[in-house]
Amino acid sequence: VDRKGKPAALNHARHFETLFAGNDDPWDLRSKRGERHKRDTIRRALGPARLGCGVELGCGNGITTRDLAHKFAHLLAVDGSASAVALAKREVAGLRHVEVRHAALPITLERARYHAVIASEVLYYLPARSLRTTLWEAFDGLRPGGLLISTNHITNFDDAECTNAELNRLTRSLFGGEVRALVGDRWRCDVYRK
Ligand SMILES: C[S@@+](CC[C@H](N)C(=O)[O-])C[C@H]1O[C@@H](n2cnc3c(N)ncnc32)[C@H](O)[C@@H]1O
Repeated sequence: VDRKGKPAALNHARHFETLFAGNDDPWDLRSKRGERHKRDTIRRALGPARLGCGVELGCGNGITTRDLAHKFAHLLAVDGSASAVALAKREVAGLRHVEVRHAALPITLERARYHAVIASEVLYYLPARSLRTTLWEAFDGLRPGGLLISTNHITNFDDAECTNAELNRLTRSLFGGEVRALVGDRWRCDVYRK
């Protein structure tokens, strides 16, 4: 799938629904080496220890979710596409500590509950207000010392609502600067600590 295929304005939800309804892995997460590297990087960024609660925003078909599941005692994964959620549920079937929920961002997170919030290739799709609220909820939902892991393609897609530079500026203004920036072939993984 070409990420440049521009959806009608404000039609992201339908755009993703159509993608997942026609293809269970629209971005070839299973087969692309760069995508596997990205998941390895997210896992490494979480550190060696198993963590308590995690939340994954925009979990898509659940391939990243399944990969991260063993890092948490409880992992909540949310996505706004019903088809993606059905795929993700299938992907993590049998993992009782993983909950997949159909919800549009921003979602309200319980204050100071989470050890990590993972947002892989989702934040730049959010319109400015939703993005600000989502980042604020991530900050508020994290325990002190908790991590926000924000992984984003370096290319600025036509269907994105903001550039990487804008996204990083906004996230930095809330979290006060990233702890680490890990760079892959066409993406970067920014790690912020509350
Ligand atoms: C490019 S995919 C990324 C999937 C997965 N996180 C990954 O890294 O491969 C973007 C995902 O974000 C979801 N998404 C986009 N905007 C959303 C919103 N406002 N609320 C919830 N999910 C959203 C889409 O449905 C899609 O599954």
